Amino acid sequence: LNYRVPRTRRDIIQTLMKGLQRLEYRGYDSAGVAVDGSGKDHAASISLYKKTGKVKALDEEIYKNNSIDLEAELDTHFGIAHTRWATHGEPSSVNSHPQRSDKNNEFVVIHNGIITNYKELKKYLVSKGYDFESDTDTEVIPKLIKYLYDNRENDYVSFSTLVERVIRQLQGAFALVFKSIHFPGEAIATRRGSPLLIGVRSQYELSTEQIPVQYNCSDSKTDEQEKNLLNRRGSTNALHSVHDRLAVEFYFASDASAIIEHTNKVIYLEDDDIAVVVEGKLYVHRVKRAAGEDPVRVIQTLQMELQQIMKGNFKAFMQKEIFEQPESVVNTMRGRICFESDTVILGGLSDHLKEIKRCRRLIMIGCGTSYHAGVATRQILEELTELPVMVELASDFLDRITPVFRDDVCFFISQSGETADTLMALRYCKQRGALTVGITNTVGSSICRETDCGVHINAGPEVGVASTKAYTSQFVSLIMFGLMVSADRLSMQQRRLEIINGLKKLPELIKEVLALDDNIRSIADELHHQRSLLVMGRGYNYATCLEGALKIKEITYMHSEGILAGELKHGPLALIDKHMPVIMIITKDACYTKCHNALQQITARQGRPIILCCQDDPEISKIAYKTIELPQTVDCLQGILSVIPLQLMSFHLAVLRGYDVDCPRNLAKSVTVE
Ligand code: G6P
Repeated sequence: LNYRVPRTRRDIIQTLMKGLQRLEYRGYDSAGVAVDGSGKDHAASISLYKKTGKVKALDEEIYKNNSIDLEAELDTHFGIAHTRWATHGEPSSVNSHPQRSDKNNEFVVIHNGIITNYKELKKYLVSKGYDFESDTDTEVIPKLIKYLYDNRENDYVSFSTLVERVIRQLQGAFALVFKSIHFPGEAIATRRGSPLLIGVRSQYELSTEQIPVQYNCSDSKTDEQEKNLLNRRGSTNALHSVHDRLAVEFYFASDASAIIEHTNKVIYLEDDDIAVVVEGKLYVHRVKRAAGEDPVRVIQTLQMELQQIMKGNFKAFMQKEIFEQPESVVNTMRGRICFESDTVILGGLSDHLKEIKRCRRLIMIGCGTSYHAGVATRQILEELTELPVMVELASDFLDRITPVFRDDVCFFISQSGETADTLMALRYCKQRGALTVGITNTVGSSICRETDCGVHINAGPEVGVASTKAYTSQFVSLIMFGLMVSADRLSMQQRRLEIINGLKKLPELIKEVLALDDNIRSIADELHHQRSLLVMGRGYNYATCLEGALKIKEITYMHSEGILAGELKHGPLALIDKHMPVIMIITKDACYTKCHNALQQITARQGRPIILCCQDDPEISKIAYKTIELPQTVDCLQGILSVIPLQLMSFHLAVLRGYDVDCPRNLAKSVTVE
């Protein structure tokens, strides 16, 4: 966005496109841009371009289009652009953003986040005669603002008042930027739950300027109040009122990487802030001031380089993704678990719930890490659903020509939604009349499209080849499935409440586990010259052994095996001596005593186990060579916490051994061949 800096439309589009390209690392499936139309009164119309695929495809589309005057010089201009990673509706140009209010593009909006009550809003707006063109949750926003504008009581209604009214109706998470032909040259952005920052670029040196927040206490403003609001602008309540004649540009973005090449001066908006740029000045509005709230927003100086911002302070995407897990599990639960009423609703399965409850058995099918998510949740799903649960590697399931029946429910677990083996198993089950359910992280993927119903795990794009946050989100999704199916079983209520409560506390406990990183790194330091590493456990933690060993294999190229501790004496014990590195998982659950027995068998053969145990377990600490102490949670959720130290361990081992963590040799993120 720029003001009083003559720029061509080409400059503006290039700035927007470059910003989008900087965000592509977060995953994308389509992109779009809205700029002022051509002609003398350029802000009286809006040109919209949208395209599936990479940002480059959108860029080419714009230049192919001759109707836009690229060389026109503009004094004031406001453009918006967006890359999409689908959550509702498959990737397509109509589903990409900006979403619009109508064919004249009166209001256009870009959105990062998820609107959980969009169905209710859509129903209402449809009943008022508004036509929808996309499958997105976002489209209710431009439609709603147009509805409020069309039905305004005050002639002087301001853009910010309209936005204020819109966000009162929204549930979920959002960062939004609005543009409208009714408010030419005016830019509005707001957020709740999703990040949003404003970059400020100026010809003069910015230091620690502050923006005072304006509080507009009432929703129903009179014409007089609106006029006052509009008049107040231009007084001292805005940034740069004293530097009026100097050029200032503002950049709204959900991530600093999109704007860092233009400015390192940024303002981070708070939840429910409404930022307005009008006549080149920035204002921040809020409905009312909450107790203890800071009434100013301060300009901060970012010290980071672009590369650093993209990966944060992390050395690799895998490390970043491990540390994102407190947020990614929340994103998986968002809008699905209501902790006040202890209800769990997976919208994507609701229509098939009856059929699922009547089925003969559940079959979980996946490859690699996704298969382990099935292993991890099998026991609790058997308990909650009281159904037999099979967990299958897709390739083996097909090799065996496994019998499948019409009354089976088959789950296809896949981060990418494209894994060939899993996809073929899906087609195989479909042919045999089973109900098929997708558990994927990629909306619009083949598995999403071909299954009867499903759950998007909403973990956000995963870049590192070794899967981490997708695993914990798959885990949480399958637990939510068990909770939903068992909702009406009286005998399960206490257990369900215990689990729901455990899920509520999960993000905090994950943070506690992540704080063990230094301890884990020092253990990795000791282990990184070894050739082998065994990981043992049983019960709820067995899946962690398999998944931990897979992570170690994938990125450190060490030999690693996940061993069921119950099988120790049937073979693996022969491997144990004082040289063989062993990690054991012994947490306080029903298998605790049995795990102790396995531990005795190891130490009796001079084994020196590193033990992942619960905090305050002095007995274990006495016997262990080293311990990694985890917070305790509900038994069936413990695997979410116990896997994280092994994710971190594999990461540190790989770094110490000098390997490329994100792109291990011979492996691909998405394996689309058999
Ligand atoms: C590949 C990846 C693994 C992943 C597996 C299944 O082998 O390297 O990290 O677990 O595919 O992928 P999916 O996308 O189906 O979860």
